[in-house]
Amino acid sequence: MQGAYQGTYQSWQDAPEAFWSRAAENVDWVTPPKTIFDPNQGVYGRWFVDGVMNSCHNAVDRHVEAGRGDACAMIFDSAMTGTVRKFTYAELQTEVQAVAAVLRNLGVTKGDRVVIYMPMIPEAVFSMLACARLGAIHSVVFGGFAAHELATRLDDCQAKVVISASCGLEPGRVVPYKPLLDHAVDLAKVKPDACLIVQRDQHHAVLRYEHGDIDFAQAVEVEKVKGTVVPCEPVLATDPLYVLYTSGTTGQPKGVVRDNGGHAVALMWSMENVYGMRQGDTFWAASDIGWVVGHSYIVYGPLMAGVTTILFEGKPVGTPDAGTYWRVIRDHKVNALFTAPTAFRAIRREDPEAELLTGYDLSSFRTLFLAGERADSETLKWAERHLNVPVIDHWWQTETGWPVACNPVGLELLPVKHGSPATVLPGYQLDALDDEGHLLPRGVLGNLVLKLPLPPGCLVSFWNADQRFRDACLSEFPGYYKTADAGLIDEDGYIFVMARTDDIINCAGHRLSTGAMEEVCAMHPDVAECAVIGVADALKGQVPCAFVVLKNKVERDEALISREVVGLVRDEIGPVAALKTVMVVKRLPKTRSGKILRGTMQKIADGMPWKMPATIDDPAILDEISEILRSHGYAAPSQPVAAIA
Ligand code: COA
Ligand code: AMP
Repeated sequence: MQGAYQGTYQSWQDAPEAFWSRAAENVDWVTPPKTIFDPNQGVYGRWFVDGVMNSCHNAVDRHVEAGRGDACAMIFDSAMTGTVRKFTYAELQTEVQAVAAVLRNLGVTKGDRVVIYMPMIPEAVFSMLACARLGAIHSVVFGGFAAHELATRLDDCQAKVVISASCGLEPGRVVPYKPLLDHAVDLAKVKPDACLIVQRDQHHAVLRYEHGDIDFAQAVEVEKVKGTVVPCEPVLATDPLYVLYTSGTTGQPKGVVRDNGGHAVALMWSMENVYGMRQGDTFWAASDIGWVVGHSYIVYGPLMAGVTTILFEGKPVGTPDAGTYWRVIRDHKVNALFTAPTAFRAIRREDPEAELLTGYDLSSFRTLFLAGERADSETLKWAERHLNVPVIDHWWQTETGWPVACNPVGLELLPVKHGSPATVLPGYQLDALDDEGHLLPRGVLGNLVLKLPLPPGCLVSFWNADQRFRDACLSEFPGYYKTADAGLIDEDGYIFVMARTDDIINCAGHRLSTGAMEEVCAMHPDVAECAVIGVADALKGQVPCAFVVLKNKVERDEALISREVVGLVRDEIGPVAALKTVMVVKRLPKTRSGKILRGTMQKIADGMPWKMPATIDDPAILDEISEILRSHGYAAPSQPVAAIA
């Protein structure tokens, strides 16, 4: 007999437009779409082209209008400050409306861009929704990024207004944001008209009123007192809701553009059918609003589905201990948690026998979802053993906006295979292709690609860069979107995602570009050339590691230069880049045509079997690389081993 998953996937395959038309009925439209998909619009076609709606209305106002104004919309839990604040849908509406009024006073209208550079505080969520209310386009920049990264984004999206805070809180330190923001605005060619700053008690920022700084709370309070009404602006389903920058293969980040209508349809479908969440449930995505997980499953997905969302400021360990996650689940009766495997590795390292679980009533807890990086079996098994709930690995990326592959517990729990994010979801046709674009048989490793058109909710393009989108994602395998992940699909249709095919690495669940780091290392005046690779790390999955060759006649202390390069990457990209190891080498291994052999270096660093590349220019250089890696504590075999290329 066909199960619920098979039946649903089949119904999508048989009639994709009818499938998404039915899913779209869950959205509250101003004008419901008549055209479900138009292949002639956009880069690969567009969804719901004549539909009109508003994403903020669907996340907030519709619940108030439906009589759920007193239901809990969001719980802010800060393990950093010991604060808990709860917001009903009606309260959320008041807050969002006031922020929208402030933005409107600043001249923000439909289509304008607003950059949000904030820590995990409620005002960040209000700001995102306020932009959506006005039909403005938000671009959230992760708080761990430095001024230069922020400036790049300000320029690329030409932000009219920036919303920020006086500081972020990291364990043991307060991170003042305002100096970073001021520096970014100074660097940016396109200056915002105004910067709204939330003053936090832990650190007050000096506001440059003459440069357009405004105290967020004061401005919002004025609008609340006045009771200013700001209606939700009707927008086309195809109008952009947000731009989210993500690492590409160069220092220039890619602005992933998400539309309003398709996004709402896909997220609401996924909340119910993928995550098994119903109105009144409580969902906790322990991520950050700076990442796609935060956009989709802290803010829009749960709120649109009428599910209570948790906004958590803290870390899985050290705030104050490895029992924090259990405390949050118990205190707020969380039904499902979504986090990155690295968070569970951190908890397991601190509390191997999960002793801190003792005494916590986790009876509300139904499912743990993991994504962001490959989930290793040991971590999965540890979580299953101690939590006694299904542990669901699932696979997606910033570009797709919602899961590509998952064990769809909302439909049915399929048998779990450790190491696999289970099966492809309706909306997606996933194939594994060889480098020439031929379809590979089951079980053979290749390029994981998605047949066009992508379903609703996936990126529609890069911001102002359709051609870059085509070149980066669509041209290599015509008719397909290239995920840039390598993997295989087994006989049962289970997917195994093994590695990236580009220079992106996953460090503590954060997506980083080694190419971008190389660009920064090369800025150091003593560095002639460099290579950055991702090496295996027991906690973070991968961490970056840089090899630098110094210019001739540089006689400065090598350890000092290494520290300077570490500092440069921290200053230019941000602490989140987590580059701590810089090794000075005499030469880099290259092919005869001059290509740096990063893949071979990575295998050596990880202590994996490696083969001497036939095209190598000077094999002796790999001995030097092995030697220096060993001196830094890596397993690095010095001899080529076995037959792995
Ligand atoms: N603002 C400023 N700095 C930040 C920051 C922020 N929002 N987020 C991280 N940083 C800093 C950290 O303080 C750290 O600085 P340090 O080098 O001075 O210590 C650096 O960036 C690296 O941070 P991180 O990679 O998070 O490492 P960590 O050692 O602080 O914590 C984990 C390790 C595993 C506990 C942590 O990464 C974690 O909780 N990961 C969960 C994964 C996650 O949320 N993924 C999102 C996708 S689902
Ligand atoms: P991001 O865009 O930051 O969400 O990162 C997306 C990338 O993270 C994917 O392209 C994969 O390389 C990796 N990734 C995400 N989820 C998984 C998973 N469940 N298994 C393996 N890799 C994953």
